[in-house]
Amino acid sequence: MSTTTVATANNTTEANIDFLPLHGTDYVEFYVGNAKQAAHFYKTAFGFQSLAYAGPETGVMDKVSYVIRQNQLTFVLTTPLRSGNEIAAHVAKHGDGVKFLALKVDDATDAWNQTTMRGGKSYLEPVILKDDKGEVVMSGIHTYGETVHLFIERKNYDGIFMPGFREWKSTYNPVSGGLLYVDHCVGNVDWNQMNPWVKFYEDVMGFKNILTFDDKDISTEYSALMSKVMSSGNGFVKFPINEPAKGKKKSQVEEYLDFYDGEGVQHVAIATKNIVETVKDLQSRGIEFLKIPASYYADVLDRVGKIDEDLQPLSELGILIDRDEEGYLLQIFSKPLQDRPTLFFEIIQRKGARSFGKGNFKALFEALEREQDARGNL
Ligand code: FE2
Repeated sequence: MSTTTVATANNTTEANIDFLPLHGTDYVEFYVGNAKQAAHFYKTAFGFQSLAYAGPETGVMDKVSYVIRQNQLTFVLTTPLRSGNEIAAHVAKHGDGVKFLALKVDDATDAWNQTTMRGGKSYLEPVILKDDKGEVVMSGIHTYGETVHLFIERKNYDGIFMPGFREWKSTYNPVSGGLLYVDHCVGNVDWNQMNPWVKFYEDVMGFKNILTFDDKDISTEYSALMSKVMSSGNGFVKFPINEPAKGKKKSQVEEYLDFYDGEGVQHVAIATKNIVETVKDLQSRGIEFLKIPASYYADVLDRVGKIDEDLQPLSELGILIDRDEEGYLLQIFSKPLQDRPTLFFEIIQRKGARSFGKGNFKALFEALEREQDARGNL
């Protein structure tokens, strides 16, 4: 089997110092065609709560942003108010998608210095945003496609979200969907671009390659992909990177690259404490998940061993199971969240396992291919 786990990097002093300590995901910002409707969708379908708003009423004249939150998961939905600007061009090219993966840091100026010094391309030089609740320091560098990593330092801020935003009070407050925080975010990159981006995360951001899947691990009868999982020095932030591999037909990564018109975020994986309850709830709110055939469940326990959950609700809902040396995990994948077959969500419950569900790849990719085939893109 060609999966490898890389325990340590080389022994130089540099490799042992975490020059970019990240405290997790601060927020995920999407550029969308209609942020008002998107915010309503995420509140209704996933149980997010209204948090903050920025737009003409707060002095922002060219765009509107809605901030929604659920536990430690914060999304920002931003839309352009006019054509002829960067956000409008982004939406025209990519459709709705992730623009910013914003990361929590203690020192956003140092994060920018450390990463740009190592070859990161600046998106935003450190800026201090102030209001009567304190200050937020923000900086950013480009990553794959038109995606950006922002570094957010908010230790001197106790406002609702960030200077420039006001509280968004809504009379419509659907109950929470049990979603907790971002577990990992996966990027799809072009042919032969996985290794250059792995090197970017190693060199520029001090990440380590903790898992590698080659096209023999991740292939079905028709299509294949390769993937490497990059983890921040302290393990709080994980970014798997996929590239397409040659198969008999078009792979899911190629379909994404075609429809996103470039590289970008393929899925955001969101943690829950009780996947059965969460998925039942999300389904009742109208979220559709990939269907897994009954045959998957016929022998899954032979593969993964004993689990705490009853198998029946897992099979009814289409929840996948995998085990590694440290425990097991339960996961499920939504259908795309917009009409383009691009971004989707994974819901994941970890019970000790720190891996990514390799044992499920075949069943999952076959499920994805059935959807791809229905769209005429296989
Ligand atoms: Fe994932």
